[in-house]
Amino acid sequence: MATVDRTQKLLDLFGGTLAVLNAPMAGVTTPAMAAAVCEAGGLGVLAGDLLSPEELRREIQELRRLTDRPFAVNLRARDKEGKSQFFDAPEHREKAQALQRALGDLALDLGLSEHYEAAELPDFEAQLAVLLECRVPVVCVSFGGLREAYADALKEAGVVVFGAATSLREAKVMRSAGVDALIMQGAEAGGPRLNFEKSDEASLVGLMSLIGPAARATGLPVIAAGGIMTGEQAAAALAAGAAGVMLGTALLRSDESAAHPAHKAQLAYVDDTGTVLTRVFSGRLTRVVENGFVEAMREAGLADAGYPNTWRAMAPILAAARAADRADLLELAAGQGAQLARTGSVRSIIEYIGRQCRSTRESTQ
Ligand SMILES: Cc1cc2nc3c(=O)[nH]c(=O)nc-3n(C[C@H](O)[C@H](O)[C@H](O)COP(=O)(O)O)c2cc1C
Repeated sequence: MATVDRTQKLLDLFGGTLAVLNAPMAGVTTPAMAAAVCEAGGLGVLAGDLLSPEELRREIQELRRLTDRPFAVNLRARDKEGKSQFFDAPEHREKAQALQRALGDLALDLGLSEHYEAAELPDFEAQLAVLLECRVPVVCVSFGGLREAYADALKEAGVVVFGAATSLREAKVMRSAGVDALIMQGAEAGGPRLNFEKSDEASLVGLMSLIGPAARATGLPVIAAGGIMTGEQAAAALAAGAAGVMLGTALLRSDESAAHPAHKAQLAYVDDTGTVLTRVFSGRLTRVVENGFVEAMREAGLADAGYPNTWRAMAPILAAARAADRADLLELAAGQGAQLARTGSVRSIIEYIGRQCRSTRESTQ
């Protein structure tokens, strides 16, 4: 299929004119960021993953105040009990309790109680109910496919569903789960690895190896995610078989990004080997700029207490660190392309990448 047809197929799913999505980045993506993408003709995506149903409703309302164009909300797949699908084993719970004990002094330092309460993942069914009630046009799902009952509820309500995958096998699972488009996340990507079928190590496939096979084997429009920082890279992804691109790290330094100023500032100084994969912050493998905290936790043997229990123990610490401007304790999630992240409005960044992409495509035709 020609690129134009692939791209049109994707655009038809949400009524857009530009095949660009912002990545759902918890704590970074704002309604203003998503709205700017929508206003440019792309698909703005809210990071709903970790929001309570009330917060989710407020973000959707805020987005709707800023744009009347279609948008998406991202959620993390859970099992029937509302827990994570993965790694929620009892031994991880014990490790997480040990982690929380080890963090006691740091918690005190940050103004929390030594025995602070662990955070809870939001109630998935309540989140889904908000999306249905608010008639959200597109739902993106990370960390696995939706259970049949949830997927059916969305289909019945006419909601378009996009699913994230990190390997051909996961792409096929997503197709069986009935998604309308795939978000293929390459190993270059910043933030959490979204794999759900194979081990973390086996799921570190580079973006260029993912796109073509996933597009051919599933026949679905593929959105390329991971390391897309320039128009040349976007053009390469389209040439490889993608229908559109997702920008995460490329928007981290934008005016509309809620990333901590120290997080934004750090990106300019990161070279291509400056990011690492760590489980320190959530228990899930996550690509971040390494800082002293990651190193210290690894050296103390506290780097892996499983997901979501590590997240439960760490979330209050990270929130307090952010509130206290403790730049040394931040989770500096970023992709391998971090050094190319531009400052300015989301609109200007998207237009810059769009222009570069068009001229690259014209010059190679
Ligand atoms: C700061 C940051 C936070 C992220 N948080 C999430 C998240 O909460 N949920 C999710 O599905 N993906 C998350 N991601 C991963 C993105 O969905 C996407 O795969 C990635 O940003 C694409 O690679 P890039 O950052 O190189 O553009 C995050 C990425 C970054 C950079």
